[in-house]
Amino acid sequence: DWTSDVFIDASIADLKAKIGSDKVVMGLSGGVDSSVAATLIHRAIGDQLTCVFVDNGLLRKNEFEEVLDSYKHMGLNVIGVDAKQRFYDALAGLTDPEAKRKAIGKAFIEVFDDESHKIEGVKWLGQGTIYPDIIESVSVKGPSATIKSHHNVGGLPDFMKLSVVEPLNTLFKDEVREVGRALEIVETIIGRHPFPGPGLGIRILGDITEEKVKTLQEVDHIFIKGLKDHGLYDQVWQAGAMLLPIQSVGVMGDERTYEKVVALRAVGSVDGMTADWIHLPYEFLGKISNEIINRVKGVNRVVYDISSKPPATIEWE
Ligand code: XMP
Repeated sequence: DWTSDVFIDASIADLKAKIGSDKVVMGLSGGVDSSVAATLIHRAIGDQLTCVFVDNGLLRKNEFEEVLDSYKHMGLNVIGVDAKQRFYDALAGLTDPEAKRKAIGKAFIEVFDDESHKIEGVKWLGQGTIYPDIIESVSVKGPSATIKSHHNVGGLPDFMKLSVVEPLNTLFKDEVREVGRALEIVETIIGRHPFPGPGLGIRILGDITEEKVKTLQEVDHIFIKGLKDHGLYDQVWQAGAMLLPIQSVGVMGDERTYEKVVALRAVGSVDGMTADWIHLPYEFLGKISNEIINRVKGVNRVVYDISSKPPATIEWE
């Protein structure tokens, strides 16, 4: 029978045998998966592991600083890279969801490659890929049936010349969390909602600008903080806000406004493959809606997404 302790012992032994005295580089995202994978690898090979955490300009509000801080407390050797402008440049004018994902994935690989070349003699690339990432990316019908291109799956460009090590690629999310708790990773990381690699880039529908990112970060922050303050965060698999590419008419004092609409989404799930919208209390939704409209400039309407997956996906792009 599967237990996290058995898994951890076997995984560490396996990593030690596989990696030996080689060096490993790994990209961290602040999420559960990459944090647990890095901690496992760190247990196995210690300082032979170097981690890279990239600010792609599409993270949640204050996320880069907060997460970097918690990694340092965990004893991981982490290089933080501010690459915001590089991502905004790569995304300028792009509106198609897949084109945006590809641009983000490409920019990530370039930044990551630059950083890994600064570490001498790296042979391995650590990744936090989990089982559902693999099945969603390459479905049984083959690549043409791929639903979305998850940039953390599918191998690396030749120029990287690194072998991949993915200690969590047989696990589901709940198992990853169990492993993380057994490794005594802080609950603020273990309990984090999943967040897509392309981040707010696929929650801003249409083209991305730094200004739109700032707007969505404020909206998202109010929503997520509200969930936490009302004891709802842990009852939700994943939540977030989408900035829609439309404007609607509103009224503010005596003035007519014509501003942006945001959609809030909160779903329950066990593995992200199917999901149900969560019946958040109306009072809570009303309070959050007021707070968003009063505090975030440029937004005059909030809607709540009541679609389940399938047929709707969790993300809107
Ligand atoms: P969907 O929107 O397909 O999302 O129902 C399922 C889960 O995957 C996350 N997601 C992504 N994660 N790169 C990622 O690393 C991506 O391109 C991507 N697209 C969706 C999504 O947040 C949800 O947890």
